[in-house]
Amino acid sequence: MAHSDETAVSPAPHRAAQAQAAARYRRVRQATLALTAHLSAEDQLAQSMPDASPTKWHLAHVSWFFETFLLVPRLAGYTPFDPSFAYLFNSYYEALGARQPRPERGLLTRPSLNDVLAYRAHVDDGMDRLLRREAWAVADLLDLGLAHEEQHQELILMDILHLFAQSPLKPAYAPAPALPVGADPGPARPVDFAGGLVEIGHAGRGFAFDNEGPRHKVYLQPYRLADRLVTNSEWLAFMADGGYARPELWLSEGWVKVQAEGWTAPLYWEEAPSGWLAMTLQGRRAIAPHAPVTHISFYEADAYAAWAGARLPTEAEWEHAARGMPVTGNFLGSGQYGPAATPADAPGLRQMFGDVWEWTRSAYSPYPGFRPAEGAVGEYNGKFMIGQMVLRGGCCTTPRDHARASYRNFFQPQQRWMFSGLRLAWDAPAQIAEPDGAFAADVRRGLSQRRKELPAKYFYDAEGSALFEAITELPEYYPTRTEIALLRETAPAMAAHIPTDAALVEFGSGASTKTRILLDAAPQTGAYVPIDISPSALDAAAQAIGHDYSRLAVIPLVDDFTTALDLPADVGERPRVGFFPGSTIGNFQPHEVVAFLAAARHLLGEGAGFLVGIDLVKDAATLVAAYDDAQGVTAAFNLNLLARINRELDGDFDLAAFQHSAVWNAEESRMEMHLVSLRDQTVRAAGATFGFAAGETIHTENSYKFTVEGFASLAEQAGWKLERRWESPAPSFAVVLLRA
Ligand code: SAH
Ligand code: AVI
Repeated sequence: MAHSDETAVSPAPHRAAQAQAAARYRRVRQATLALTAHLSAEDQLAQSMPDASPTKWHLAHVSWFFETFLLVPRLAGYTPFDPSFAYLFNSYYEALGARQPRPERGLLTRPSLNDVLAYRAHVDDGMDRLLRREAWAVADLLDLGLAHEEQHQELILMDILHLFAQSPLKPAYAPAPALPVGADPGPARPVDFAGGLVEIGHAGRGFAFDNEGPRHKVYLQPYRLADRLVTNSEWLAFMADGGYARPELWLSEGWVKVQAEGWTAPLYWEEAPSGWLAMTLQGRRAIAPHAPVTHISFYEADAYAAWAGARLPTEAEWEHAARGMPVTGNFLGSGQYGPAATPADAPGLRQMFGDVWEWTRSAYSPYPGFRPAEGAVGEYNGKFMIGQMVLRGGCCTTPRDHARASYRNFFQPQQRWMFSGLRLAWDAPAQIAEPDGAFAADVRRGLSQRRKELPAKYFYDAEGSALFEAITELPEYYPTRTEIALLRETAPAMAAHIPTDAALVEFGSGASTKTRILLDAAPQTGAYVPIDISPSALDAAAQAIGHDYSRLAVIPLVDDFTTALDLPADVGERPRVGFFPGSTIGNFQPHEVVAFLAAARHLLGEGAGFLVGIDLVKDAATLVAAYDDAQGVTAAFNLNLLARINRELDGDFDLAAFQHSAVWNAEESRMEMHLVSLRDQTVRAAGATFGFAAGETIHTENSYKFTVEGFASLAEQAGWKLERRWESPAPSFAVVLLRA
């Protein structure tokens, strides 16, 4: 049965995938060339040190990679552009023979830049033919070739910066306006991790380099990470305190290096009467005090950490902390071309991705079970696993799609021409470990802040999910009724955007009521993946849908959709369509919306559609009534959070001493729910004690109200385009179709 089904696969998904592969190839290749728009032909010829290469060489080498690993072996009738290029543009592949010595790449006045561009065009033409014929068969090598090209995009900028730094003219690569100075981010705050037995390494769908696997277990002692990167002003304090002159701070090899090289500051820094200047991609600039320090070696990072009474994180600590986070930050696409200051008040870990590669205390070694690939491609990573340290997170010249939590970059400990910086780490005392789980930790954190708050996701235990269903039936709570009517009317138009056999991935599916309207209109849907944090709601809904839609594969996932999700393997290679009704996305703050949408784009994949329901701004009276109903159901929903803390975290909240409050915050365009303490009181919960003054509130939920344009601009920041919109009559509610 399964076998005969396989032969009946329609070629349509293949064609779509081929077109997608070709488009992706063109996009990456064009992005590389776009980097040279600011450069003259002479700029592209030169090389300023043995580790750096001329831009022209990079442009040719990445083409050589496609020619050597894809076109020659896989495309019948392909003729290499010029046989001598195999020697000129091989980087380090011993299996492929002799090559131009790396330090002498700058001597290649020929081929000319024009010849190299013609070489690129020749390879592009071959790749176009190959991808049209068999994109499927070469998918893995194509992924590798494009990831390789993206690495060289970053190298081009690193190498140009080094080259320009040698010029007395100190030219700007990108004549952009100065980076915003930014505010003083205040002291770095430690973020605690309980550690324990965790897994690191790449798993699941999507490309990763071979060195990122296999995924495996590691044991972490409790640890702390600074919530942000070390800044230039902090680095200046280290310098002022004799940081570069105190051997007790330095590793032995590092101390030898500092003395031999005469280092007194990061690479590209220079002291002027007006203060410290640094060479940047925008030319020579005054040091931005609040921006992350960059262009430091591992030795310097380690010495700084010692000076600060801290240490560098290990790569496992870093990855474990980053795993729950969306991959957003200051990357190549931001147009800043330099690390940027972080806002002062942002909560949680910041700058994990983008800005600067973060040195770790981990040597670049194979993960347990690592085996390099057969043949020349096996030389890509494995043979460099000696004498280098791992850096994590990507930087301001890394293409955004190139970064991920499991990515292992590596450099020798003395190198510093890349955008490298650091984040501090500490061993945590055993008592900060959080064996009682995330809920307890979030309650302790949320209730010890000056402005008390609790994450809204904790509303949804079994009790809370049932109360939410009751809210949806209230006369005042218009969003559910309005969205259902809108979906009934427009489902056929929406269904047209669901490909055959697609997996419909729903976020915060609850009772999956709205899903049915879509599924009825889209019988071609192959699988349904409801994701919800509430096991009780999810189990009931998944069972009922499985029963009523017998041909649909129902693959429920109990998970927190604000963390990095992996879909279950059963979802397979089906095209994915996202569904996020209810304006639950309005329960995020705008920066969280962007982070969530960016992560969803990654999860759903290139070209995916995403149907999102958003509640629209309207008059305050309608809004307040919807969140403060006459029967008091919303009040019960809100107070259930305290009841849940009492049930699960041994709390002693007196529910009669707190009152539900719903207010319209016009400035922020959001409904807010609070629980107001009716008297001075002390409450114990999650092993801690919290004081409340009369009138003090716990902020429990935001429910943002949007305009379609405002929402579209948030979506754009996360790489989505608004493709269609459907709007209800008043009280207005919209469903939009986003396209990745
Ligand atoms: N989609 C339904 C339910 C909306 S209620 C509708 O439109 O009516 C919000 C749902 O999101 C609840 O079922 C809740 O359990 C779930 N939820 C809230 N925060 C979540 C989180 N962080 N991760 C996963 N699910 C979450
Ligand atoms: C789930 N979410 C969209 C609801 C809302 O309207 O923000 C939760 C809710 N809060 C109070 N009433 C309903």
